[in-house]
Amino acid sequence: MIYRKPKKEDAANMLQYLKRIGGESDNLTFGSEGLPFTIKQEEEYLDKLSAPCIVAVEDDGTIVGDGSLELGVRRISHSAELGISVCKAYWGKGVGSTIMNMLIQEAKDRGITKINLKVRADNERAKALYKKFGFVKEGYTTRMLKVGDEYFDGELWGLML
Ligand SMILES: CC(C)(COP(=O)(O)OP(=O)(O)OC[C@H]1O[C@@H](n2cnc3c(N)ncnc32)[C@H](O)[C@@H]1OP(=O)(O)O)[C@@H](O)C(=O)NCCC(=O)NCCS
Repeated sequence: MIYRKPKKEDAANMLQYLKRIGGESDNLTFGSEGLPFTIKQEEEYLDKLSAPCIVAVEDDGTIVGDGSLELGVRRISHSAELGISVCKAYWGKGVGSTIMNMLIQEAKDRGITKINLKVRADNERAKALYKKFGFVKEGYTTRMLKVGDEYFDGELWGLML
């Protein structure tokens, strides 16, 4: 397994990965349909991507994990919003922790002093990962996700660097 920044050439693999993880849990903002981008759009996005982003890539080239920081601008430029996911077959093997370590290091290197994230309130596995890295629960939000006809509340977690 290697951990690296995604490249333009990963576009098709990345879109496939997003469909896979979208279908494996109801914790993300999309399902098995993935994200509505063409390979060309994804290529352009990855080509220009300057924000921290890490993918975990299996020996055969398949992406099995992904984490990124969305950087703030102007008066929130000291902060970033974190997103992370790992294919179900790889849960509990340290992939999420490795990605998290790399993102936190990159955030520190860039002078970011606060990482924020939103998580479904009942997503105990993700919350255990965040707690392990020192994140604390800072707030609560109702109806964060709507999956089918069902609403799910969310929690706001943060890490000061
Ligand atoms: C949340 C997620 C990214 C964690 O990734 P992972 O690769 O399984 O994480 P790790 O193997 O590094 O485990 C991290 C911690 O989770 C906790 N954990 C592991 N297995 C667990 C389980 N069965 N139940 C609860 N917590 C568990 C442990 O604290 C573990 O740390 P430790 O092994 O050092 O004690 C992954 O489960 C995932 O992608 N879930 C679906 C998408 C998602 O929920 N993303 C987050 C949206 S906010």
